[in-house]
Amino acid sequence: MTVHKKFPDGFFWGAATSSFQTEGGIENMDWAQAARDGLVPPIGLACDHYHRFEADFDIAKSLGHNSHRLSIEWARIEPQEGKFDEKEIEHYRAVLRALRARGLEPFVTLWHFTLPLWFSQSGGFERTDAPEVFARYCAYVVEQLGDLCTHYSTINEALPYTSNGWRRGTWPPFKKWPFIDRINLPASYRNLAEGKTERSWKNIAAYFRVLRSLARAHNAAYDGIKKVRPESEVGIVHHIVLFEANGNPFNILLAWFANWHWTYHFLAKVEEKCDVFGLNYYLYKKFGDIHVYEKTDMDWDSYPQGICNALLMLKRYGKPVYVSEAGIADAADRMRADYIKQLVRCMHAAIKKGVDVRGYMYWSLLDNYELAQGYTKRFGLVEVNFETQERKIRPSAYVYKQIIEANALVDPVR
Ligand code: BGC
Repeated sequence: MTVHKKFPDGFFWGAATSSFQTEGGIENMDWAQAARDGLVPPIGLACDHYHRFEADFDIAKSLGHNSHRLSIEWARIEPQEGKFDEKEIEHYRAVLRALRARGLEPFVTLWHFTLPLWFSQSGGFERTDAPEVFARYCAYVVEQLGDLCTHYSTINEALPYTSNGWRRGTWPPFKKWPFIDRINLPASYRNLAEGKTERSWKNIAAYFRVLRSLARAHNAAYDGIKKVRPESEVGIVHHIVLFEANGNPFNILLAWFANWHWTYHFLAKVEEKCDVFGLNYYLYKKFGDIHVYEKTDMDWDSYPQGICNALLMLKRYGKPVYVSEAGIADAADRMRADYIKQLVRCMHAAIKKGVDVRGYMYWSLLDNYELAQGYTKRFGLVEVNFETQERKIRPSAYVYKQIIEANALVDPVR
């Protein structure tokens, strides 16, 4: 075994999950309603992680992890507007204690895509008071959990949320631009909502309004959290789609514009209120590219190497970065180990080039509810049998474990 590319001491290694994709049994939120309306696949019990978190964290610990990213379900904490449920706070306190007892540093995301029904049915992030409503929830949670956790992100992936909800119409609230199908609907985005969603020119303005509202919501939440727990480290999780181009000037312009819209323009609105950034990386698009990539089970081009340039895009902000998600849907576990090694190699390259990367959370610890694709796509280090809830560790999880234990890459990478 050869060890090379050492990571900084204290580097956080772990995996990520989100509440609605794993916990099960959350009925009072917009995705559960969408499932009842036949627009997304039913969620049901998911991984029953709500009841099995201790055993799941035992697995994470046995795999060498020293940290874990999870999200809090807003609909559990605030089931009615302005009314908070202390029992559910107690549940998440037990979750955080369970992580700490196993030596896993918690990274809490306050909102990962799902809205309480009272909020979605009254307009969600289209409500003019959405930033204040969101900030009130965030400050409440951090006040209650602050003695057990210091790392928080407010929002998971504003751009994918808005694009799927207000442009493509594939996620709640299923709003769609009129001409979108003609220019932009790869097969992997086809789902139950197709043909049943609201198409309107008004959704173009709404898309930009919601993006602005999310940025304001983050900023208000940052201030609210700092008031109650000034010691907290607060950031936002941003999904970078890395756009690049061949030498063609038109393609270069296209890539520049796409990166500006998808990353720089949004981050400019929130950077002052971020102590750190979370980076989620999955997608790469090179305009004018003729290379044929191996495909993941999501039908996405496999290009883990892109994480280096994605991290370099964040260097200009001069903030610490956590890779809050990166991983692969690969039911056969054929590509995952190499994919992880490449990610790690390229994260190391970004550190060498001056990006202050502090941790990596593989997506995901468990197979889970993959959004509009339901249970058909398998990202887990741990395979889940959704009938019996049996867990089975995949071989690639042990490759990741070796990396974690060495705090370095182990053996050459192709
Ligand atoms: C999201 C996860 C999702 C993953 C894979 C990320 O963009 O945060 O919720 O499961 O991508 O599609």
